[in-house]
Amino acid sequence: MQRIKVLFVCLGNICRSPTAEGVFRALVEEQGLSDRIEIDSAGTSGWHENEPPDSRSQEEAVRHGVDLSGQRSRAVVPGDFQRFDYICAMDSANLKELKRTCPRGQEKRIYCFTAFAPELKVQDVPDPYYGGERGFERVYDIVEASAQGLLAAIERDHLR
Ligand code: 4NP
Repeated sequence: MQRIKVLFVCLGNICRSPTAEGVFRALVEEQGLSDRIEIDSAGTSGWHENEPPDSRSQEEAVRHGVDLSGQRSRAVVPGDFQRFDYICAMDSANLKELKRTCPRGQEKRIYCFTAFAPELKVQDVPDPYYGGERGFERVYDIVEASAQGLLAAIERDHLR
């Protein structure tokens, strides 16, 4: 059976998209769907290539029982647009950059991640990099709600 492939994308791939990857993977595991859904994350920049997630993101995730320590940053590559069914942008700048670099015809795979949690009424998972601890808490909360909505959408559209 074909696996649904999900890629989370932010700017650096050390804060928001690794959090999304870790939270979504934990949800998918909880639901017993690990063999049905493939998950990865990447950055629109390669500024932090091969670095582990930011320690502040790791600490926030650990508070919720989610381990990000095995992840390493990578940049989005052209093949990602063919490979992944859901390419989820963390903010509108990431969305714009993905749409700009996407091969023609593949745009339908690109999503605004928070659109899966319309009840939050936010468009962006705000970039926490230059802010304080609270920014990382906020990222986690928005990511958690969006990840739940994304999994519900995938189950509804592909796994029934
Ligand atoms: P991320 O956060 O896009 O959520 O990984 C950032 C990480 C690094 C930088 C900016 C945002 N930076 O400027 O290096």
